[in-house]
Amino acid sequence: MVGSLLFQLARPALFKLPPEQAHHLSIKALKSGLMPHCPNRQDDRLQQGIAGLDFPNPLGIAAGYDKNGEVPDAILRMGFGFAEVGTVTPRPQAGNPQPRIFRLPDDSAIINRLGFNNQGHAAVLQRLSARKENGILGVNIGANKDSEDFVADYVKGIEVFASLASYFAVNISSPNTPGLRNLQAGDALKKLLDHVLEKRDQMADTAGRKVPVFLKIAPDLNDSELAEIAAVVNGSMLNGMIISNTTLDRDGLKNSSHTKEQGGLSGRPLFENSTIVLAKMRQLLNAELPIIGVGGVDSAKTAIAKLEAGANLVQVYTGLVYQGPDLPRQIVKGIAHYLDDSGLGNIDQIIGKKTDHWAGL
Ligand SMILES: Cc1cc2nc3c(=O)[nH]c(=O)nc-3n(C[C@H](O)[C@H](O)[C@H](O)COP(=O)(O)O)c2cc1C
Repeated sequence: MVGSLLFQLARPALFKLPPEQAHHLSIKALKSGLMPHCPNRQDDRLQQGIAGLDFPNPLGIAAGYDKNGEVPDAILRMGFGFAEVGTVTPRPQAGNPQPRIFRLPDDSAIINRLGFNNQGHAAVLQRLSARKENGILGVNIGANKDSEDFVADYVKGIEVFASLASYFAVNISSPNTPGLRNLQAGDALKKLLDHVLEKRDQMADTAGRKVPVFLKIAPDLNDSELAEIAAVVNGSMLNGMIISNTTLDRDGLKNSSHTKEQGGLSGRPLFENSTIVLAKMRQLLNAELPIIGVGGVDSAKTAIAKLEAGANLVQVYTGLVYQGPDLPRQIVKGIAHYLDDSGLGNIDQIIGKKTDHWAGL
């Protein structure tokens, strides 16, 4: 509540700043501890065991907000059930020239072409190693733009972060690293997963625990491409999927400034298509394989729609930019109220209830 009020007051000033500067400011605020703490009350009905991890609620922050692992625990204190940091590449990388993030307020959307700007494995490893808390931490890994071997970069990511990642997100769907999305094609994907999962198995801890690996795909895939990905995934030991990254599609945008900027579009206009792709993959994937649904979530209603379409967990990024830091708490509370109102005993009873509907749109 306090967070929401403060954000409503601060939003006009924040939106006068260039988006990247506003983003840095929000990371600073989280680092300083000045942001209001809004932990969610533990609600057993929202708790899930997925891929061997105990998720206190189904909502996580999506990759790209905390690229360098600076504030995962402050993010968890905002009410998220899990935090994903990254994308991290082996070597530090400056990314594309600025400006490279654009707000589309009329569409509640963002276009970004950051290009994996990040401090690299070593710096992020050092920071995360100093972490004192133990909430669920996903590490999203990628490849350097000028790498001669993309697959080797992902394997390095597994090797470097295996001792402290709760799970890995293998991001092959950023539109801003030329050639990266080619890893989504059948043969290339099989080779990538073989190498990544082999390294993951080698890095098992002394108790034999292997870090779960999730694969993050684009929403810009046709039915035969989705079927090809599902066939490879179903034949592998991958632990889950994240659907989806940003889109190259610009259909349906209001005619405001920035709509022609190059990069990946996120936020409200991505919601429908990313949810359809999620539902189609739910139908194609082995039933026990969990999916994290992401793209355009900005309310309890949209989060519930992702769950109904077949997501086991949900992530958000752009919604936070427009709705502010109270959003995670509002979403989690809204899901709990939905269970109350519909007389359902557990979040399980929502998941996948409308997969066929969404897949048929
Ligand atoms: C500014 C920005 C940076 C992003 N950076 C990454 C990234 O580094 N790695 C990644 O996997 N996804 C990245 N994403 C994509 C988000 O994780 C998410 O998949 C996408 O934005 C859709 O969710 P949303 O509509 O809730 O934002 C980024 C998104 C934005 C807006």
